[in-house]
Amino acid sequence: MKDHILEKLKQYGQFHIIEHLKSLTEEEHKSFLNTLTTLDMDLVFNLFNQYKREKKGQDVLNILPAKVITLPVTDKEKIYRERARQIGERLLRENRVAVLIVAGGQGTRLGFEGPKGTFPISPIKGKSFFQLFSEQIKALSKKYSARIPLIIMTSEENDNETRSFFKENHFFSLKEDEVLFFKQGMLPSLTLSGELVLKGRYELATNPDGHGGSLKAIYESGILKRLISNGFTELFYCQVDNPLVKIADPVFLGYHSLEGAEVSTKVVRRRSIDEKVGVYVSVNGKDAIIEYSDMDKKYMEAVDEKGDIVYWAGNTAIHVFSLYFIERLNNHGFVLPYHRAKKKLEIKTDGNANETDVLKFETFVFDAIPFAKKACAVEVIREEEFSPVKNREGIDSPETAHKDMCMMFKRWLESAGAKVKPDINVEISPLFALECTDFVKKFNATNMVIEQDIYLGE
Ligand code: UTP
Repeated sequence: MKDHILEKLKQYGQFHIIEHLKSLTEEEHKSFLNTLTTLDMDLVFNLFNQYKREKKGQDVLNILPAKVITLPVTDKEKIYRERARQIGERLLRENRVAVLIVAGGQGTRLGFEGPKGTFPISPIKGKSFFQLFSEQIKALSKKYSARIPLIIMTSEENDNETRSFFKENHFFSLKEDEVLFFKQGMLPSLTLSGELVLKGRYELATNPDGHGGSLKAIYESGILKRLISNGFTELFYCQVDNPLVKIADPVFLGYHSLEGAEVSTKVVRRRSIDEKVGVYVSVNGKDAIIEYSDMDKKYMEAVDEKGDIVYWAGNTAIHVFSLYFIERLNNHGFVLPYHRAKKKLEIKTDGNANETDVLKFETFVFDAIPFAKKACAVEVIREEEFSPVKNREGIDSPETAHKDMCMMFKRWLESAGAKVKPDINVEISPLFALECTDFVKKFNATNMVIEQDIYLGE
C-alpha cells in the first residue's frame, strides 16, 4: 500500500510530499499515508491536466430559454397550481417525501467558525439554519400526519460538529432515528501549478467534492436504498444557507409529479445581467443549468427589445429528485463533470498563518438535470423563497437575510390586518405558521398596530 502511494506521488511529480514524508515520525507517517489512501489522486491530476488544455465550447451548443411554469396569472394556471398543491399534499400524507439538506460546504466566504448550518440566522431569536429547517419539518409532519426523514449531507470537515449540534439540541424535537447523516467525498486541493498542498505537519489540504457528490454519497451510504424500501419516492433537496426555503413545499412537489418529472427546480427572475446565479436554460433540447461563471457573456447579457433579460430563470438550488432517478444514475455509473474553482486557503506552518490560492475540483448537483428523462422548472417569488447567505457582509449576507425574513413576516402580519411600523423586526416560527395562509387563519390582527419587535412561537 505504502509503495503504491509513493509510486503515485512520483508519477505525478509530487516530490515535495515524498521529501516531507521522510521528516515524519512513524506514527505521523502512518496517519498521513492513511489519509492519502482515501483520496483519488488519479482523478484530481487528470482533471488538472485536462483543465490546462481546456477550451470552452458553448458556441457549438444550442442554448435557448427553457420552458418554465411561471407564476399563475390566468384561471387555468391558478387551477393547475391548486391541483399541484393537492397532489403534493397527498405525497406528504402518504409518507413519500424525504428531505435532503446539503451542508458539506466549507462556507469560506461567510468565514464562520463551525458548520454553516449552525450559524444563528433568525432575526430575533438567533435560531440556526438547522433549527429553522427542523421546525419546518416538525410543523409539516404535524400538518400532514406525515413521516418526513431529515437527511443531512456533511463532509469529513464538519461531520462530527454537525452531529453533536443536533445531539446537544435534542434533534430540535424531531425523532432521533428520523434524522440521518451521510458524508460526501473529499478531493485534494492543488496549488495553481498543480502541487498537493501541505496544511500542517501531516495533513494535506483537501476539499469536499461539491454538492454534486450528494447523488453518489446518498447511494453509497445505503440511505437511498433504505428510503426506497420504506416506500419513499421523492427527495426534496435544498442548500443549508437559504433561510427562506419552503421545505417540502407541496405545490412544488405537486408540479413535479403532475409534469412526470424526474428532477424539478425552483427558479427566480435574475435581478440583473451580472447577478452571480446559475441560469436555467435548454441546451441542445434538454433542460440544464449553466453556472454564471461558465456561461458565455452573449447569453448572460442578452436582453430583448423591451429590455427584459432573455435567459431570465435563475437557479435557487431548490430541487425535487425522484429517488428512482438517483438510483438509476448510480446503477449506470454516472459521472458528473468537474468544475474548477480558485479559493483562498489559510495555511499554518510553524505557528505562522499564510493565505494562498488553491484550486479545488467539484461537481454540481444540477449537472444531473440533463440525464433526466423529464425535467421541470417552476418560477417562484424571490422575496418569499430565496435569500442565500454566502458572504460575511454586503450582498447575500446575514444582514440581507434578516431583512428579507423580517419583510416577509411583516407582509404576513399585514395580510392578517395589522399595521406594522417600519424598522421593526418580526419573526414567526414555522411552529406557529408555515405559510401566510395558515398564519392569517390563526392570527387575526385587525386594527392591531405593531410598534415593537415581535416574535411568534409555538
Ligand atoms: P456553496 O457553493 O455556496 O459553498 O455551497 P459554501 O461552502 O456554502 O461556501 P463557500 O463557497 O466556501 O464560500 C452551496 C451549498 O452546497 C453545499 C453547501 O454546504 C451549501 O449548502 N455544499 C457545497 C456541499 O454540501 N458540499 C460541497 O462540497 C459544496
